[in-house]
Amino acid sequence: MKKIGVLTGGGDCPGLNAVIRAIVKSASVKYSYEVVGIEEGFDGLVLPDKTRTLTPLNIRGILPIGGTILGTTNRSNPFKYKITKDGKSEVRDVSQEVIKKIQSLGLDALIVIGGDGSLNIACELFKMGCPVVGVPKTIDNDILATDVTFGFNTAVQTATDALDRLHTTAESHNRVMVVEVMGRYVGWIALETGIGGGADVILIPEIPFDIEKVCKKITDRKNSGSRSSIVVVSEGAMPMGGDVSVLYNAETGGSAERLGGIGNKVGANIKCPGMEVRVTVLGHLQRGGSPCAFDRILSTQFGVSVVDLIARKRLGEMVCLRGQRIESVPLSEVAKGQKKIPTEEGLVKTAESIGISFGR
Ligand code: F6P
Repeated sequence: MKKIGVLTGGGDCPGLNAVIRAIVKSASVKYSYEVVGIEEGFDGLVLPDKTRTLTPLNIRGILPIGGTILGTTNRSNPFKYKITKDGKSEVRDVSQEVIKKIQSLGLDALIVIGGDGSLNIACELFKMGCPVVGVPKTIDNDILATDVTFGFNTAVQTATDALDRLHTTAESHNRVMVVEVMGRYVGWIALETGIGGGADVILIPEIPFDIEKVCKKITDRKNSGSRSSIVVVSEGAMPMGGDVSVLYNAETGGSAERLGGIGNKVGANIKCPGMEVRVTVLGHLQRGGSPCAFDRILSTQFGVSVVDLIARKRLGEMVCLRGQRIESVPLSEVAKGQKKIPTEEGLVKTAESIGISFGR
């Protein structure tokens, strides 16, 4: 009987529990594999007593629940692991300890459910001989080689609901509403929320914006009788010739840089006579809560398929969605970069065709 481990790494995302559930159920129903849950991301393979057996019985009821029952962290890279002792911090490579832990747990395979950071770690561990497979997760939808990640559609729905609410108050008060959404260095959440929520301007990292063009769009709308305008700004958006807005720099051996602040900068620079501007930052509201039906189904497909990958000895691969099909790709494909929005086709062109401005 095989024993497989599963961990969730990086920021959480709606649908993680649905993947865990599908892994545990299909491992049991289809293959009679034992599943060990590893807590707190890769920390669970460094620190003691962070594992527990997962069974169909003890994971009951988790399908609609947001977050991850295993816990997660975006600060536990085994190759740059921060250790604090007697008030002093040092960064060490603890990857060999992680490998020994996987062996001592008797794992035939380790499933890493994570974003680009965790999947890159998984790829490095695989190169060192670890039996690793991956499941892509992130609300940002920035992972290469998969059409979409679970969590993304839920985040877009949450942000779209927020836009619906902002429309009514904006209209009542004759205001411009600027809404900052997540997405790191790609604008997928902003683009789809902007189209789904009826925004007038969408600012994304892939298209550096000219604030004068944004102001003109809003002023033209006012002059033609509109009482309000909605501007969706991706947290990674930047003005032409400018830089991304960073809240905190990346820590050595810690988390990645934190973005934020562009919504307020855009809000402060929108000038349209007779109209006030208000800024809303949606933040982690987009990551929390119950996954939508699409994400539950995709998570279930990914969970089942990643156990199939292990059974077929396709270690070092990641499950992905291509069209309507669940397929797999080498983890090394994912390490090549981020999935950016094409700016001269597809949804960007759809948006421009209905008059949405990208500030270009
Ligand atoms: O990658 C997912 C994400 O939610 C990004 O959209 C956002 O920039 C980041 O994580 C926030 O991370 P944290 O939870 O560390 O604030």
